Amino acid sequence: MTKDLSNTNDVNTDKTATSSAWGGRFSEATDAFVQRFTASVDFDQRMYLEDIEGSIAHATMLAKVGVLSDDEKQQIYAGLEGVRADIEQGTFEWSVELEDVHMNIESALTKRIGITGKKLHTGRSRNDQVATDIRLYVRSAIDAIAKELTRLQEGLLVVAEREAGTIMPGFTHLQTAQPVTFGHHLMAWFEMLSRDFDRFMDCRQRLNQSPLGAAALAGTTYPIDRDYTADLLGFERPTANSLDSVSDRDFAIEFCSAASVLLMHLSRASEELILWTSAQFDFIDLPDRFCTGSSIMPQKKNPDVPELVRGKTGRVYGNLTSLLTLMKSQPLAYNKDNQEDKEPLFDTIDTVRDCLRAFADMIPAIQAKKDNMYQAAKKGFSTATDLADYLVRKGIAFRDSHEIVGKSVAYGIEQNKDLSEMTLAELQQFSTTIEQDVFDVLTLEGSVAARNHIGGTAPKQVKAAVDNAKQLLAARS
Ligand code: ARG
Repeated sequence: MTKDLSNTNDVNTDKTATSSAWGGRFSEATDAFVQRFTASVDFDQRMYLEDIEGSIAHATMLAKVGVLSDDEKQQIYAGLEGVRADIEQGTFEWSVELEDVHMNIESALTKRIGITGKKLHTGRSRNDQVATDIRLYVRSAIDAIAKELTRLQEGLLVVAEREAGTIMPGFTHLQTAQPVTFGHHLMAWFEMLSRDFDRFMDCRQRLNQSPLGAAALAGTTYPIDRDYTADLLGFERPTANSLDSVSDRDFAIEFCSAASVLLMHLSRASEELILWTSAQFDFIDLPDRFCTGSSIMPQKKNPDVPELVRGKTGRVYGNLTSLLTLMKSQPLAYNKDNQEDKEPLFDTIDTVRDCLRAFADMIPAIQAKKDNMYQAAKKGFSTATDLADYLVRKGIAFRDSHEIVGKSVAYGIEQNKDLSEMTLAELQQFSTTIEQDVFDVLTLEGSVAARNHIGGTAPKQVKAAVDNAKQLLAARS
């Protein structure tokens, strides 16, 4: 039982001024430049699947509430299916005159199925339509990002487990501080990425509400069923306020914010990879396939992939700033400004996906140069704290033991000797409390093994951390 609410049969389509979807009240055609200036089709066509999915849900709901007949609904399904096929086969002709992805698809639908196509927009506006499309698009981007993040974390676990006992210098101020294990260092990256994962999931959960039905800004007079369309599109519920629904872009900002923190983390890891591959550190080797050479210096092997990831962090921060600035001071409800949300958002999605892919491919291929790491850890008096702790265990107050060790280090610098390379007699110059057993704590192995508590660098703890992490990842799937 269908009422012809859109009354489209009566429209005089023989317009001379403009044939656009909103041309009715206009008496001259849009300026050609303005048409190009205001169009978004060049960049929003990538949401064609979400747009079609949203339209199918809308048509299904309109038929359920009796605004469309079942036959009209079926025509719309078939027509949209045809449009999708055309787009995917590359035969669809995108037109700037039709402004955006929404009107391009609607117009193609009408060309295919005639007047029924014109009924699809009943009870809907491009304002709620675009809000719905972007939410759907970001939601599936988050799902793809979550998979890639997990793949990267799995790769980290493989290397961390393998290198749980590999000793390297740990740094503060980029000065040798205390020995750590390479596995422990990689598990620090793992923790950063776990927080990133949670941030994206948090963003996903908050964005997962359906703006469809908010129409232009105030809702619609048709007897729509917003719970139903929300459900059809996999949203948790309809959004609560129609004005907010069409103007809200918080989810895009939250997404770009989560992306910025992620890229900040990847830039830090990149920086370390770049340092470690340098001749000065020489801690790791990256396979040739992740590096490039120099056109002038034949000896060079440059860590381009981490460098580029570090560099791309800048555009992701920039995109976040763009979106925050775009939304600043905007009055309710929809404003054309909002069309500017897409390029920064899409660029962020593409950049995050590419960077994660590069990292997920690269990390498991890292080769640790264990001997170089070990030798570096031996330099820089990295077991000085262990000597201080040893003296405290023998009854000396920490501040005094700090002083004793400081003097020992000064002597070591002068003699060019690590603490572990000094004789007992040399060490005893600074404290007679020092005995033969000091050498147990002055070794790198002893130093890392002694930090044997939750979150510590002892190989045993690194293995435990890897086991916990495996369980965390298993619970995601
Ligand atoms: N292309 C527009 C956008 O991306 C779609 C919504 C346009 N709505 C309007 N009333 N002009 O935001």
